[in-house]
This record gives sequence, structure tokens and C-alpha cells, in this order.
Amino acid sequence: MQAQKFDNLALTPPMGWNSWNTFETDINEELVKGVADKFVELGLKDAGYEYIVLDDGWMTKERDENGDLVADPEKFPSGMKALVDYVHSKGLKFGLYNCAGGKTCAGYPGSRGHQYQDARLYASWGVDFLKYDWCDTDELNANESYLTMRDALYTAGRPVLFSICEWGDNDPWKWAKDVGHMWRITGDIINCWDCEVGHGSWSSSGIWKIIEMRKNEKIREVAGPGHWNDYDMMEVGNGMTDAEDRSHFAMWSMLTSPLMMGNDVRTMSKETLKTLTNKEVIAVNKDALGIPAFRFTNENNIEIWAKPLANNGWAIAYVNKNDTPVEIDFDWNKHPIGDDVSQHFMEVSKNTFKIRDLFAHKNLGTTKKNMKATIGVHDVLMVTLTKE
Ligand code: GLA
Repeated sequence: MQAQKFDNLALTPPMGWNSWNTFETDINEELVKGVADKFVELGLKDAGYEYIVLDDGWMTKERDENGDLVADPEKFPSGMKALVDYVHSKGLKFGLYNCAGGKTCAGYPGSRGHQYQDARLYASWGVDFLKYDWCDTDELNANESYLTMRDALYTAGRPVLFSICEWGDNDPWKWAKDVGHMWRITGDIINCWDCEVGHGSWSSSGIWKIIEMRKNEKIREVAGPGHWNDYDMMEVGNGMTDAEDRSHFAMWSMLTSPLMMGNDVRTMSKETLKTLTNKEVIAVNKDALGIPAFRFTNENNIEIWAKPLANNGWAIAYVNKNDTPVEIDFDWNKHPIGDDVSQHFMEVSKNTFKIRDLFAHKNLGTTKKNMKATIGVHDVLMVTLTKE
């Protein structure tokens, strides 16, 4: 048997929830069950969220006498298999975290030297998703390390979505496409609009720092069904303004990033839930072509991003980065939007498009007329254009 990556997974960007951004290592089975219940009750599952992923901190500090990983019995008294069964019983999928190095980033046992053994254990528990980190890896070669784990998962036989997390340090956009289904392109996200927070040898980045970080790399070219650039778990609902959360969610959707919630979904506000379950925005993220957006312009601190959609449609996001609201009066004829990479061109002189506002859920006329709108501070106007 020739090992490979599992096919037919992540044909659209994966959607789910990950424990790290809010809970770090303070995780347990009640939390996971509560999140799974809310997925169903709040309509998150219905909106497309599928994977519930436990990040770092789920294990004991040592392997057992057979060298197996052990789920921390204080945090998970019923055992990992029972928890996975619970998540599956809700029609959802379950994910775990580990690391290519000797230790995980929070100091738990990593998979180095145990890849096949760990893959078999995950398969026996029914795990559907593995996030695989890059701490404590010394001189290891990233491409080879991720290939080893990919092959181990394949050999264990249970389809697992493989989420590569080496922070973009080894240019994963050049090699990860046949290795995993998504790969982080940056270090860790943090819940701010555009800040950078240092932690000694590394720093975490706000939304716009993450969006900008790989602008000079050819990352758009490699994303598509089955293999995505991962802009990190979302910070929607974690303290930014509702407008900033909308922009963040719109941009992750435009960029075809996985949509992994990183907030406490059990206690989120109505406005946060509304943003995270906006099906019209999610439909852009899931568009069948899977082409990431590109920046069209950013004049006057208004970012305009465009994303070609199936059936010659487009999604356009206008983000107001100013500290005051702005009026826009957008003449489609004066803005020839086109994508040299995917060879999609709007050509409004030849085509008329109907415009739909995805946050107001309103039609805004056609591209025959200028589009006028007010965009609040750090808010977004996100529209789709459908050929008439
Ligand atoms: C790294 C990853 C994070 C998270 C932590 C866990 O920093 O990039 O997403 O998984 O490790 O320790």
C-alpha cells in the first residue's frame, strides 16, 4: 500500500471549533460536551460547523508503560473514546492536537518517534482531525516530519483531516498541498485588529498583521479544494468590536481560510452568533471554485478585496480601516476588477451583475449604477455579484 494523504476531505475550507484561543490547556470533557450541544442548539452545525478540536493540554505529562499517550483522567474522567462517541452522536466530528517534536508547545509528550503508534491510538478512538504542531523539533525537516505523520495516519486506516501547524516557517505553500488538508501560514493570532504582542522569542499577531504577513509569497496559487491556507483559529467573539468581528469573519471567508471558531460558543452574544452563522458569507467561503480573494486596492484606508466565484460571479469586501465612517460611491466602470492568477475578469461593460449585501441581506441593484453605501468604523460591506 502506497501511503498518501486522505482524499475527499476538506473539499471546502474546514469549519469547526478549537479550544486553544479561549481555554488554552484549561480543557475538559464537560466543556467539549457543552460545545457539542451548542453546535446543535444554536444552529452552528446547520451553518456548516463540523469539527470540534481539542488543542494542546489533553494528555498526561508522560506516556504510559507501553509508550501510549494518555488522556488526562482528571480532565477526561470518562476517557477519550467516550467523548469522541458523544461528539459523533451529535453528527459532528472530533479532532485532537499533537506535535512533531519531542514535546508539544505546552510541554506534553509530542509524537516524535511515536508517529505510527499515536496514529493507531487516534484511529481506535475514532479521531477525525489532527492538528500537528512544530515545537521542540530541533533540526527536523518539516516536509519530512509532516510526511511521516501523514503516512502514519493513512496506514492506521481511519480518514483524518491533517492540519499542518508549522507557522509558515518552512514555506508550506511550496510542499504541503500533498501532505495535509490545511496549513498555518503564520504564528499565532491574537484578538486585536492590527496589533502585535511580543512573548520574548515569538509574537502573536492581530487580524490585519496575519492577513498581510505572506503578501509577498505565492500562497493564493496553491489553495483549492482539499488544501487550504490556514489563517489561524478565529477571534470572533473574543473582545473586538462587532464591526471588527464582521470584517475578520468576512476576510477569513474571502481568503478561503478554514473557519475554526476560537471563542466560548456556550456564552457568546447574539451578535457574535449572528456573524458566525451568516450563511451568505459562509457560502462565499465554500464556493466551489475555492479561489482565495486578492487585494484589488487599499486607497484611503479602505481595503477592497475581490474573489472570483463559480458561474462567473464575484464576492467583493470593502473594509473601512479608518477611525471614522466612510461613504463610498463605487463606479464599477472605473474599477476594472480582474484576477490574472485565475484568469477571471469582471468586464462590467459587457456583463451586468446583480448586487447582494451579505450582512444586510439586501439586494443593492446592479452594476449599471454606482454602488453607494456607508461603512462604519472597521466595518465591512461584503457583496456578491451575480451575472444577470
Ligand atoms: C502553538 C500553536 C497554537 C496552539 C499552541 C498550543 O503556539 O500555533 O495554535 O496550538 O501551540 O500549545
